[in-house]
Amino acid sequence: MTGSQIAETDPRMFRNCLGQFPTGVCIVTAPGGDEPVGMTMSSFNSLSLDPPLILFSIDRKAKGLPTWQAATAYVVHFLSQDQRELSNRFARPGTNKWEGLPYQPGPNGAPVLAGAAAVLECRPHAQHDGGDHVLFIARVERFRANPDRRPLVFCNGRYSDLGSGHGTADLWPLDIHY
Ligand SMILES: Cc1cc2nc3c(=O)[nH]c(=O)nc-3n(C[C@H](O)[C@H](O)[C@H](O)COP(=O)(O)O)c2cc1C
Repeated sequence: MTGSQIAETDPRMFRNCLGQFPTGVCIVTAPGGDEPVGMTMSSFNSLSLDPPLILFSIDRKAKGLPTWQAATAYVVHFLSQDQRELSNRFARPGTNKWEGLPYQPGPNGAPVLAGAAAVLECRPHAQHDGGDHVLFIARVERFRANPDRRPLVFCNGRYSDLGSGHGTADLWPLDIHY
């Protein structure tokens, strides 16, 4: 391990350090005016079981931020490991992410994409200041998981997958929701 750095003066090193925390990858969609918004995000996390709340954060520089802030519904898609191309499409800033992509509004009005490892239909619950990001908290209304699809992983700035050892360790013995 290298010596410790100061987060505010070493932003590059700070980002590298944060990359040591693997996450899943999701695409969150929301209805918009002319067309919906959609964004690849790794900032998703579970927050509360009762009530059922999740969170994600959006960069204040994101072109779609005003649409996100006004949205009345979101759909969160946990991507599967074969959805890297879809992830790249929804991670390109300022591009027309929906061009040539067939989509249907889902039950809550936000588009639902096919092939995800799980889908959560949500409503806005709260928005908070998160520095250079805005923190969105959403209430989950409906969800469905597809256990046959393995989730995509992001770590150290790269996609990854869970590898062949996944599922071989003992289940954590206590009843926790993480
Ligand atoms: C794996 C991955 C995870 C990302 N996670 C986030 C995130 O949590 N929040 C965010 O604002 N941008 C995140 N981004 C970047 C956005 O996807 C990208 O800047 C976005 O599509 C910009 O949208 P815009 O067209 O509204 O500017 C991530 C990109 C990748 C590749």
